[in-house]
Amino acid sequence: MAEHPTIKIAPSILAADFSHLAAQIEEAQAAGADRIHVDVMDGHFVPNISIGVPVVRSLRPITDLPLETHLMISEPDRFLDDFAEAGSDSMLVHMEGAVDIDRTVHHIKSLGKGAGVVLNPATPAAAIGEIIADVDQVLVMTVNPGFGGQAFMDHMLAKIAQVRELIDRSGRPVELSVDGGIDCDSVPEAVAAGAGVLVAGSSVFRTGEGIAAAMAALKAAAESA
Ligand code: DX5
Ligand code: ZN
Repeated sequence: MAEHPTIKIAPSILAADFSHLAAQIEEAQAAGADRIHVDVMDGHFVPNISIGVPVVRSLRPITDLPLETHLMISEPDRFLDDFAEAGSDSMLVHMEGAVDIDRTVHHIKSLGKGAGVVLNPATPAAAIGEIIADVDQVLVMTVNPGFGGQAFMDHMLAKIAQVRELIDRSGRPVELSVDGGIDCDSVPEAVAAGAGVLVAGSSVFRTGEGIAAAMAALKAAAESA
């Protein structure tokens, strides 16, 4: 059994009860959440619509946790300034959604925010080869983006391991996140493959056992890896 003392949990509020969002975030924070993952969808880049800038602005004063904004939108460059101004601490942009990912990443950094790139399931690990020198985070999608509650794609484990290798080879302190179908079954293998940040929606907010118990179970699963 290896030790993974630095595993972080980023609850994805997509699965939260939006009529009690502040209370649910406070509960996740009290249970040890490291950051809050905010999924922004435009009905174009992904076949679903979720939330945007006004929700980030409303959440900013109710939590000290970093607000990590996952932009599943076309033309993300158009909205980076707005999310930064609203209170996002970091922005994650898809390799598949930006016309010039280098320009987009530097735009985020020029706003003083953390910059991450996201790989859809069909995008190979090697795609981050050049941009790895400039990002704070790489997020490997372990489902096709657009919806919560989907099953973890096991064949993404090899890609997680490849991204881990690229990061280690770069010598840079780049975080490796996984997003989609993260639960007590998939966590041990994702962590063993090299994931350091676990984005989890359904397995935090929709287990029926409560947020604190769900987070404790995810942490225990990570420690068992
Ligand atoms: C999916 C989103 C995820 C989503 C994960 O497109 O990027 O962050 O909330 O949901 P679960 O954890 O339920 O798979
Ligand atoms: Zn997400």
